[in-house]
Parts: sequence; C-alpha cells; structure tokens
Amino acid sequence: MSDDFDPTVYLNGVWGPLSEARIPVLDRGFIFGDGVYEVVPLYATPDGRAPFRLTQHLARLTRSLGKIRIDNPFDDAGWRALIARAIETNHGDGDALVYIQVTRGVAKRRGHAFPAGIEPTVFMMVNPLTFPSAESREQGARAVTAEDKRWLHCDIKSVSLLGNVLMAQHAAENDALETIQLRDGLLTEGSSSNVWIVKGGRLLGAPRGPRILEGIRYALIEELAAEAGIPFEERDITEAELRDADEIMISSATKEVMPITLLDGEPVGAGRPGPVYAALYDAYQRAKARELSEWAARAK
Ligand code: PDD
Repeated sequence: MSDDFDPTVYLNGVWGPLSEARIPVLDRGFIFGDGVYEVVPLYATPDGRAPFRLTQHLARLTRSLGKIRIDNPFDDAGWRALIARAIETNHGDGDALVYIQVTRGVAKRRGHAFPAGIEPTVFMMVNPLTFPSAESREQGARAVTAEDKRWLHCDIKSVSLLGNVLMAQHAAENDALETIQLRDGLLTEGSSSNVWIVKGGRLLGAPRGPRILEGIRYALIEELAAEAGIPFEERDITEAELRDADEIMISSATKEVMPITLLDGEPVGAGRPGPVYAALYDAYQRAKARELSEWAARAK
C-alpha cells in the first residue's frame, strides 16, 4: 500500500479521511478489546466493486454482537446502505475488502463491567486487497503448526485478537503464510483462516463450535463440495491425520481457498496442490461469478 493511502472512512455517522478519524482513549475497544468486527470481500466488476456473501457476513456480525450483548446499531438495510456508500465513496478498479468494527462505546471511566447508557462505536473502511496470485496458487503455500492458546469463545469474531496476532507473527517469522493451530492434539484453525484436510478423496473440517470461528466460507465450502461430488465430514481431526493428509487447504475472505503444500517443512501429500483443492477453487470461482452477476443485475 502506498504512503498516500487515506481512504474515506465512516466513524459514528461521519465520513472523512482515515488520517483524521479519531476515537476517545476510553473507547471500550481500545481499553478492553470489547468489540467485534467483520471483513467482507469486494470484487472488481465492470460496474464497480461488489461484495461476496454479504448476507452471510451481516448475519455473522449480528450473531457476534448478540454474543457479547451489544445492541446492533443498524438493521440489515441500514448496514447495506452504509456498505454501498463506503463502496461508492472509495471507488477503485481493484479488488478490496470492507472492514466493519463495532465496539461497546466510550466509557466515562475505566471499569470492566458494561457501562450503562453508552452508544456503540461504529467504524467502517474499504481497503484495497490483492488475492493470492495464480503463481502462488500453482505452487501452494507453507504453513507451520502451533498450540492453540486462545480463549474458548473463538466463535465470536472479536477484536480481542492477541492470540491470533501472535500466531500470524509466528507464521511470518517462519516464512509461512499461516500458522495452523492444534488444541489438545486436535486441529482447530489458522490465525485468520479455517483449515481443511483431504484424505482418500474425503474433505474434512474441524467441528463448528467455540473452538473455531465459523468462516463465511465454511458453509460455502460445504456447498461447493456437494456441488463437486466431494464427500464432506465435519469432525475432530487429529494431529496425526493433519500430518498424514493428502491435501491441506485454508479458506478466508482474503485468501478464498488456498492450498498448503508444505507443513512444518514437510511436503503435504504429493507436495503439490491436489485435485480436491482444484475442484473447490473452480467451484468457488463459479459461485462468485454467479453472485456478482446477481448483484450487478440488482444494481441496474
Ligand atoms: N479472518 N478463522 C479466523 C480466526 C479468522 O480470523 C477468519 C477470517 C476465518 C475465516 O472466516 P471467513 O471465511 O469469514 O473469512 C476463520 C478475516 C479475514 C480477518 O480477520 O481479516
């Protein structure tokens, strides 16, 4: 990103340059990590940028807010109008993402329990995004493993991301794209992605629940697997199964679905992206094309 990066952002009803957006230091997000967020991918189309799986992202935002008992500051139509304006205001020709953050709001003094009568802080920005290149997909990416030391509410898309931040740094320091975490000998997820393995033609995903964030791509990959005739099982995956997988892949808004071909320095399966990855990636592109054309048709 160039130094003049200064998108127009939304903060509590006001649109203005990112460089001028300010929050008070007693914002609960700053003081306690007391807030939630969303990341919605935006794809460049001939008619401007369009979101993918927005309905599902907004539903997850509502669930995250509910789980930490913050009243949703907008209804679905309200969020959609804000996002449409963020996209319009930051028109560019490349792919991008919308980042949305809602915190409990600004307290008068520091104290852990919820302050009474405060309004949530709402922040939204559009950032350019480069999806992994065709070259990197052909090669596949490296991942490393580590013990999952996070709390047991990983299903909440909380801005309290210290555990995830340390895992992302661990990957960066080991020249890897992602850290794949294990808790009690079972696969959980990446620092900012869900993890999938393939064994004998079957696709396996760790169980949804408090140990992982249910990515918007979780249900999508289930659908895509069904479409491609790939049997899918949601169940506990042991460390031995992870290390013995024919294929490993990760999924997220910013990576789509990405093959992992080296795990802790050892080749995964044949050491190349496998056929299940290829089928899912193609199905992902088709699902995207379908939804983006529906978006364009509605916008006209
Ligand atoms: N992260 N698990 C974790 C811990 C994540 O942070 C993410 C996404 C996912 C995948 O979710 P989805 O398919 O909805 O992107 C799983 C986003 C991209 C982020 O924090 O930037």
